Amino acid sequence: MTFRHKHLLGIEPLHPTEITTLLDLADSYVDLSRGAAKHSNALAGLTQINMFFENSTRTQASFEIAGKRLGADVMNMAMQASSIKKGETLIDTALTLNAMHPDLLVVRHPHSGAVDLLAQKVNCAVLNAGDGQHEHPTQALLDALTIRRAKGRLHRLNIAICGDIAHSRVARSNLILLGKMENRVRLIGPPTLMPAGISELGVEVYDDMEEGLKDVDVVMMLRLQKERMDGGFIPSEREYYHRYGLDAAKLAHAKEDAIVMHPGPMNRGVEIDGTLADDINRSVIQDQVEMGVAVRMAAMDLLARNLRSSDAARDGANA
Ligand code: NCD
Repeated sequence: MTFRHKHLLGIEPLHPTEITTLLDLADSYVDLSRGAAKHSNALAGLTQINMFFENSTRTQASFEIAGKRLGADVMNMAMQASSIKKGETLIDTALTLNAMHPDLLVVRHPHSGAVDLLAQKVNCAVLNAGDGQHEHPTQALLDALTIRRAKGRLHRLNIAICGDIAHSRVARSNLILLGKMENRVRLIGPPTLMPAGISELGVEVYDDMEEGLKDVDVVMMLRLQKERMDGGFIPSEREYYHRYGLDAAKLAHAKEDAIVMHPGPMNRGVEIDGTLADDINRSVIQDQVEMGVAVRMAAMDLLARNLRSSDAARDGANA
């Protein structure tokens, strides 16, 4: 097995073989999770702390279930009620937690780069559960696993990422991952929601859904991130739905067996038609949630193995 990292801070530092290693292990955790007894002891004796400085439903629940299935002691910090509200800095909070000897720290933070900074201050393995508009590595990995299982491969696919690309860490991590695995990625959305410098990314960019969706295997929709906008990005939600909302008519331009994805939470009737989102013949949105648990189990398992082998190496050197 090759996965040589202390932390999982982004997709950027991962080698394609490491991505494959992680997804292969995640496949085995899908099987475990579908069984009657959902337990392994891969993280037995380890302490996992989840620190979410931003709201989250599925990601936090997914990390919590993943840790519990692998036998870790899991603790969720209630950040709303924490000393952060009393003015404590991120670093002070991290140092306080570090003194309690966690092994795995799962962090979501509204500022890009905050999780990397924190990783430099603690001794344990840090997993980025989304930092600002930067990266959301476990989301890209769960999307990759979902695509690989639905399409039977994770290379040479035409994949469209649609909507609010500019504000999306999900889009960024996916672009990096899908590019590393040699897929052709297209971005579709209004020019106001495309990040600056997009032409340097080596992807095709469209502002028309019908044109952009032609012949794609995978349609990945994104949430319109209203909380990261200060107005003026779109004329109105109605107009946005009309031009960029995915419905059966627009999907008809993609390949006949194209799958529909969305990381959640969804704005039904804004970026996606509710009926299409629920259509199990086209939509793999619920599969993405299932794969999320398995991918997080795999990520924490691999980091824990590295923790143990570096502990063993240190003990050996001190002996
Ligand atoms: C995403 C996130 O928080 O980055 N959601 C998720 O993790 N499933 C996407 C979003 O908020 O739109």
